[in-house]
Amino acid sequence: MLKRYPLLSSCLLVSGAIALFFWTRPAAVSAPTPPAPPAYGSCPPSRDGIGKTFMGREISQVMGHPGIGWLERTEREKEEAPSKAIALLELAPDAVLADIGAGSGYYSFRIARLLPEGKVVAVDIQPEMLAFLKAESARLGVTNVQPHLGAVDDAKLPAASIDAALMVDAYHEFDHPAEMLASLRVALKPKGKVYLLEFRAEDENVPIKPHHKMTEAQARKEFEACGFRFVTNQPGLPWQHLLVFEKP
Ligand SMILES: C[S@@+](CC[C@H](N)C(=O)[O-])C[C@H]1O[C@@H](n2cnc3c(N)ncnc32)[C@H](O)[C@@H]1O
Repeated sequence: MLKRYPLLSSCLLVSGAIALFFWTRPAAVSAPTPPAPPAYGSCPPSRDGIGKTFMGREISQVMGHPGIGWLERTEREKEEAPSKAIALLELAPDAVLADIGAGSGYYSFRIARLLPEGKVVAVDIQPEMLAFLKAESARLGVTNVQPHLGAVDDAKLPAASIDAALMVDAYHEFDHPAEMLASLRVALKPKGKVYLLEFRAEDENVPIKPHHKMTEAQARKEFEACGFRFVTNQPGLPWQHLLVFEKP
């Protein structure tokens, strides 16, 4: 019968091919776009704050580069146990990790040793911190710590270029946290992890100023509003939370 109606048979063939294409086409793989996070607010600036709020938290002032000595203090291992925190990060030897708010590179250089085929992209907004990082790389003969100048609202990393991001005592200073997290969502590969180390605000025995601490509840509220999935809070560090989030 189809021979008698060649036009009908061609139409059937074409519509069959179209149906097969849509039926077998793989589902889109990009992460879902998160809803827009709530707007920033304002408050009278407190001693260590900037008078700008995000989801009820006043953002802290940035630690300037004269604070390098404090970041590099010898007691840091005893107080914060960075070697224990670093051992809890799940990183393959060829991983690319972005240390956002790297400062003097205290963590960057210690992690870079674990990535013989990978690297640490050490991101900061203060050129003086990057100059210190460059000098340290030369002094130590390290070739896999890459200083990288970011902006206050953008880490300026290429899309899908990093396996994980780390923020140590830095996120609470970001004056555009929602934009920074949006830029990290772009820079991370799918299922990429964000490791957030912040001094525990729930613990009054942690001897750090209030604006430089965060509760787990606050961090989860902000990261989830910006489209990250909470994975776990690793216990066992003396002063800090080690919160793990994932790009969906
Ligand atoms: C308290 S220091 C911590 C440095 C380092 N993570 C450490 O623990 O040794 C915070 C750093 O975050 C940086 N920072 C603040 N806002 C930033 C942003 N939006 N992007 C990248 N770095 C930022 C500051 O310049 C500063 O060097």
